[in-house]
Amino acid sequence: MPYKDMREFLGVLEKKGQLRQIDVPIKAAHGDNELQALMRLLCQNDGPAAMLNNLEGYNRPDVPVIFNPFGTRERTAMMIDCTEPLEMKHKHAKVLSNPSSWHAPVVVDKDKAPCKEVIIKKENISLDKNLPHVFFGKEAASYITGGLGITKDPETGDVNMGCYRITQLWNAVHPLGEEYPEEQQKQQLSVFAFWNPPMSHIGLHLARATAMGKPLEVAFALQCDPALHMAGATSVPFGKSEIEFAGGLRGAPVEVVQCETVDLQVPATAEFIIEGAFIPNSETTIGNHSNPVGYYDAIQVFPRFEVTCITHRKDPLWYATMEMIPPFDHNYQALVPVEGEILGDLQRKIPEVQDVVVTPNMTYVVQLNVDGARKPHSEFGKYVLHAVWGSAGRWGRTAKIVIVVGPDVDPYDMDSIEWAIATRVQPAEDTIINQSGQAFLLDPSATKGHHGFPVVGSQMGIDATMKVPERFSTYQEVSMPTPEEVASLAEKLKDVL
Ligand SMILES: Cc1cc2nc3c(=O)[nH]c(=O)nc-3n(C[C@H](O)[C@H](O)[C@H](O)COP(=O)(O)O)c2cc1C
Repeated sequence: MPYKDMREFLGVLEKKGQLRQIDVPIKAAHGDNELQALMRLLCQNDGPAAMLNNLEGYNRPDVPVIFNPFGTRERTAMMIDCTEPLEMKHKHAKVLSNPSSWHAPVVVDKDKAPCKEVIIKKENISLDKNLPHVFFGKEAASYITGGLGITKDPETGDVNMGCYRITQLWNAVHPLGEEYPEEQQKQQLSVFAFWNPPMSHIGLHLARATAMGKPLEVAFALQCDPALHMAGATSVPFGKSEIEFAGGLRGAPVEVVQCETVDLQVPATAEFIIEGAFIPNSETTIGNHSNPVGYYDAIQVFPRFEVTCITHRKDPLWYATMEMIPPFDHNYQALVPVEGEILGDLQRKIPEVQDVVVTPNMTYVVQLNVDGARKPHSEFGKYVLHAVWGSAGRWGRTAKIVIVVGPDVDPYDMDSIEWAIATRVQPAEDTIINQSGQAFLLDPSATKGHHGFPVVGSQMGIDATMKVPERFSTYQEVSMPTPEEVASLAEKLKDVL
């Protein structure tokens, strides 16, 4: 059954004991660091989701903050109604590759759209008051991280929806020591929206609109049905709608409603909607921003949009997250589309591929369903490494470290992967160094190109399959109790341990 909205998903988490109400005061003002510490505490132990009901130094104490809802692989699978990570990846890859299983959205009347319960018109917009602000770590601004940005291609009218971070300029520190003008702090927002291949589709819409001399309208839907957030984090081919893809993931159309001030339709059960139009050729310098590879970006330059309307539910919920050295709560949300994209492509041509797991630090692990003498040939592991770099889509080509393992290695468990590398790999024979790979944009170890980010980098592939019969004639017996034996002993000793 699809979730109607984020609230329904949170209700399911609470019933399963996976969501805690936190009434203890937590500091969330600029300069405090309790939210980042809480994220670490919860994510390092696969901890529960939380509803933060008592934030200190917070401008909107009436709006509780959803925290860590997707912080484990299991809860991420639940976003599209699955229980197992592999089941989810298969569902994601299957729906993505078959647009005939997608559903066009259905339009509902405004009076049936909860996101319109409160309407704040342009003349009353004052972003210091209208939107919640919470601060993490040494970040210079309060970022909006639960938003799905919806725009239309100014040439074709095709709709795009993606997760893009928004910077709130109110009470933000300028990285060059300047002040953001008051009208920017109170009426405008800055969006991570620019087009540098293979970057975002909102950026491409904006580049096209700028070339045509037109302002680009935008609407952000905040805190929606989690299937929409999964779709928004997926690189659906340009020109195809993530809202329709979300309909496929849900197995039912998304209900959308017409915006008040822009010609766009947004998910009707969102908690907040922010409408506006990009200011042509606007540029705002922001930073620090803490990024998903675990460093602060000191300076970034992004376009701004003028807010023309905000609508929200009567008792709205906010969502806040941050990126830092992994793990953090939306790691897996961002990784499932990467895994699904490569898994779907590899399985279409290589039936021996069983699973693709991308770790939070972006090591790509391919698990095969055969090993040793059952591999089609002795160099098969290397063939799979090349196939990852040559896979369709945005991500495989940027895989910096790829490891191929057999079916007895748990691709979700770094200890297991490391054991396979330690016992099945001779570096000179079983690794490949590709000196002309495409760099992952955020890799700080790769040399930057003239646009200021890395384009080309080297890559390493490790064939950690068993080298039978090419190097050894027999399989060594492994020393390990079965999971059943461990579970049975745990049961026997449960009162003692
Ligand atoms: C919580 C979250 C925040 C994200 N923030 C950004 C962002 O600020 N900018 C960006 O380009 N991608 C961001 N991403 C990744 C994009 O959503 C993802 O690459 C998506 O495919 C972009 O959509 P598009 O392919 O339609 O452009 C984020 C993902 C998640 C899950």
